[in-house]
Order: sequence, then C-alpha cells, then structure tokens
Amino acid sequence: MSQQSKHELSTIDVSLKALFTGYLLVVGLGLCMAFAQILFTHGMADGKFGLSVDDIVYSYYGNREGSRLEMKLQGSMKLMADEATRAEIIKWVRNGSPEDTWNSSIQTLVTANCVRCHGVIPGIPDYRTYEGIKTVTAIDEGATVPTLARVSHIHLFGIAFIFFFIGFIFTKTSGIPDWLKVTAISFPYGFLATDVFSWWATKWIPEFAYLTIISGTGYSIASAFMIFTSLYQM
Ligand code: HEC
Repeated sequence: MSQQSKHELSTIDVSLKALFTGYLLVVGLGLCMAFAQILFTHGMADGKFGLSVDDIVYSYYGNREGSRLEMKLQGSMKLMADEATRAEIIKWVRNGSPEDTWNSSIQTLVTANCVRCHGVIPGIPDYRTYEGIKTVTAIDEGATVPTLARVSHIHLFGIAFIFFFIGFIFTKTSGIPDWLKVTAISFPYGFLATDVFSWWATKWIPEFAYLTIISGTGYSIASAFMIFTSLYQM
C-alpha cells in the first residue's frame, strides 16, 4: 500500500490513459472471443453445445471406446457373429489392430462372418483386406503430441504477453492491498502453467480435464478483476 501515492491510475497522463484503456478494452474483447472459440471447438466435441469435462476429455484424450468397428459389433452387426468371435475382434481393435494378428487369426474370423456382405455388396466397406478393415478400426486418441507441443508453446508465449501488460497496468491501481495485488498478478501465470500441463495430462489421464476447467476459470477471473479495476480507476 506504500505505492499508493506513487502510482495513481486516476492521475496518470491522459495519453497513457488512452493507451491503457484501448489496450484493456481490446484485450478484454479478445478474451471473450477466445472463450467463444473454445465453446465452438472443444464445446462441441461431445456433440452437445456448452463446455463440459467430456468435451475436454474427447479433445485431448479422445474417445477410445470409439472405433466404428466396435460400435457396430455392439450394434447393428451384433447378429453377424457369435459372442466369442465378436469379443476376439473387439480385443484386436482395442490392441491397436496390429497387422500380424490380422494375418494370423482375425482375417479368418472376418472372412467367415463378414465378407459374404463386406466384399460383395457395393457401397459398404470391403473387409477382405487389412487396408479395408483399417478404415473402421481407428481409435480416436485425441490431440497428438506434435499438436499439443505446437498449441502449448503458442499459448504460453502469447498469453504470458497479454498477462504481462494487464498485470503491469494493474500495478498502478491504488487502494488495493499489496497481498491482493500480488495474488491477482501471479494467479494468471500459475493457472496458465497448470492449464497447459492439464492438456498434456488429460491426453493420458482423462481426470485431469477438471484441472483444465479450474485453470481456465481461475485466470479468467483474475484477469477480469485486473481489467475492471484498472478501467474503473482510470
Ligand atoms: C448380411 C450382410 C452383412 C454381414 C454378414 C455383415 N455386415 Fe456389416 N454391414 C452390412 C450393411 C448392409 C452395412 C451398412 C448399414 C449399417 O451400417 O448398418 C454394414 C455396415 C457395417 C459397418 C459400418 C461401416 C461404416 O463405414 O459405417 C461395420 C463396421 C460393419 N458392418 C462390420 C461388420 C463386421 C465386423 C461383420 C462381421 C462380424 C459384418 N459387418 C457382417 C451388412 C453386413
């Protein structure tokens, strides 16, 4: 509180006020747009509008029960093979559908149960070959490591910059206890780090999706507080 007299946002030069106000308004708008974009991309990942833990899990961890072959074998293709056969095919899909197991056993099962249609009826996938069945065995594993690395570094550099200026302007507010200032300024950085960490963690452990939501909410609140306080004092 000792800086109170030194830094008064209300008394700074009018041109600096214009600069700070313009910056905060545009960055505030940018943060809203970022939120809208998250709603439209990740928000729809589970097929429902609105951001939920499932959306984050689908985006980063993927939908690992989700190969079309398995879905169909539990659904409309259920009657095409007996239970033991279906179990074996599903196990193979879950193991990543390796080609050597296809050659040694799965192809025989599929040939016996499926190719009287899949390979004969035009318009439905042909399962006589490994390449043919591969089109429905893919398991959605979410974001890839190269994608995560790319998005993480852009996010860390870009957002750190935004928080720097928001925080810098906020240091010049008055009447706010030092502990609150220090907390508001450091929180976004802490949450930014846990946010990016949680994406990577969710890729392997879906429960970390909760940390993504906590972090995002955390730095939104902290930066909204700094933006509104600074704007108000100017
Ligand atoms: C009597 C014919 C017939 C047999 C036998 C059959 N299917 Fe099908 N299959 C179809 C038809 C018709 C469709 C398209 C309609 C549908 O999706 O239900 C289809 C669709 C599928 C699809 C979805 C393909 C896509 O691109 O969406 C999968 C996967 C599939 N079958 C797997 C199998 C497997 C595995 C077997 C053997 C255990 C099998 N089917 C046996 C007729 C058959």
